[in-house]
Amino acid sequence: MSGVAIVGAQWGDEGKGKITDLLAEQADAVVRFQGGNNAGHTIVRGEVQWKLHLMPSGILYPGKRCVIGNGVVIDPKVLIDEVDDLRSRGVDVSGLRISANAHLIMPYHLLLDSAGEARLGKLQIGTTRRGIGPCYADKAARLGIRVQDLLDEKILRKKIAAALEPKRLSLRPYARDPTLDLHAMTEEYVTYGHRLERHIADTARLAWEMLDAGRTVLFEGAQGAMLDIDHGTYPFVTSSNPVAGAACVGAGVGPRDIEEIWGITKAYTTRVGSGPFPTELHGPLGDAIRERGGEFGTTTGRPRRTGWLDLVALRYAARLNTLTSLAITKLDVLSGLKRIGVCTRYRGADDAIFDHFPYHQSVLHQATGETEELAGWSEDLGECRTESDLPGAARDYLDYVAEFIGVPIALVGVGPGREQVVWTRAGGDSVLGAQASVA
Ligand code: IMP
Repeated sequence: MSGVAIVGAQWGDEGKGKITDLLAEQADAVVRFQGGNNAGHTIVRGEVQWKLHLMPSGILYPGKRCVIGNGVVIDPKVLIDEVDDLRSRGVDVSGLRISANAHLIMPYHLLLDSAGEARLGKLQIGTTRRGIGPCYADKAARLGIRVQDLLDEKILRKKIAAALEPKRLSLRPYARDPTLDLHAMTEEYVTYGHRLERHIADTARLAWEMLDAGRTVLFEGAQGAMLDIDHGTYPFVTSSNPVAGAACVGAGVGPRDIEEIWGITKAYTTRVGSGPFPTELHGPLGDAIRERGGEFGTTTGRPRRTGWLDLVALRYAARLNTLTSLAITKLDVLSGLKRIGVCTRYRGADDAIFDHFPYHQSVLHQATGETEELAGWSEDLGECRTESDLPGAARDYLDYVAEFIGVPIALVGVGPGREQVVWTRAGGDSVLGAQASVA
C-alpha cells in the first residue's frame, strides 16, 4: 500500500499542479479529494501549456486512472468543457472516474455566491464566484444534488425542486433568470448525465482495490492549509478542508492508507482574495515578485498579493498536515534579490510577539511578520538539476527553511518546465522520488 497526499501548505497557488503532474508519472492513480473549479493549475509540457480546473493533474498520462473523489464539488458544464478541450488536443481521458457521491454545482449556487459577495460589500471574502460555498452549504444542509442523481430524471427534478424551495427568498431578484427554470435546469443536467455516465463510478472502492494491490495512489489537494474552513484564516477561507486529513474523507480511504504527505510551498507567499496576510509586501518589491512570478490567478486572472515566505504559517501547516516532505516551488523567482526575507515570528498589537500561528481572528488581523534577512544570489537557477548546481546562498536558504519547519525538502522548482526541478537526497527516500530521481 502506498498512499501519498499532496497538499498546499500556504494560501493555494503553490504550484501543486506541476508537482502532482511530475509525481503522477510514478503513481498508478491520482485522486482529487476536495474543492472544485475554484482551483486552477497550470502544467507546462514542452511548448504546450495546460490550464486545468477540475481534472486531476495526472490526466496528461494516457489512460492513467484519474479520479474526482466524493469530496469534490463539480460544475458539470466546466468538467465537460475540460474533457472536450483535452480530447480535442489529443489527450486520452478514458481513465477518468467521477464519484457518484460527489456534489454538483447548480446554476443557483453561482447566483448565490455572487449575491453573497455583493451583500458583504467591503467585507467580502473575494471568492472565485464559482458557487463553491453555496454548494458545500447545500451538501451540509442535505439539500445537495449528487452526480448519481443525474442518472434519474424524476429523482433529479424532485431534488432540484426541494433544493430551490428554501432559497426562494434569496433567489427572488433572479426570478426571471432562465437558468433557474426547474424544467430547463433538469433537462440541462440530464444531458450532462448522459455525457458523463461512462465515467461515473464507486471511486472509494477503486482506491481501495489499488491500495490493497500495493499500487501507488496520489491524493491531490486543492487550495491550501491557510484556506481550510476549520484551520485557516476564517472567514477568509474556502468552504472545504484542503488539509491532508480531508484526503481520507474526500476519497473514502482511512488514515492508515496514507504513508507520505507532501506539502507544497512557494519560496515566497501569495494569496488572492481578502483576509490577513502578515508578510504582505506593498510597493515595488511586492510588484516585482508578482511580475517575475507571473502571479495572476489561473481561475480568475486576479493579481495575487505577494509577500515573504511566512515560516510561522508554514510551520503551522506542517503540523496540521503532519508533512513528511516539503516541495519548494519557484525558487528561481527570487534570483537577483540582494537580501531575502523570511518571517520567523509575528508582532501583534501592543508589540506582543507570537512564535505560533495565533488562533484568534482579531490578533491575526493585526499581526505583521518580523523577518530575518538571508543573503540572496544573482545566478539564474533555470538550468540547475542537482543540489550542487544551486548557488551556495540558495542552498543556505533551503537549509534554513527545512530546519525551521522541521521537515526535509524533497524537491525544488527552478522554472515552469516539468524538467526544471532539483531532487534532493531527502526526495530520493520518498516512495515516488526513488524512481523519479533516478529516471
Ligand atoms: P471560494 O473557494 O471560491 O469560495 O473562495 C474563497 C477564498 O478562497 C477566496 O479568497 C479565494 O480567492 C480563495 N481560493 C479558492 N480557491 C483558490 C485557489 O485554488 N487558489 C488560491 N485561492 C483560492
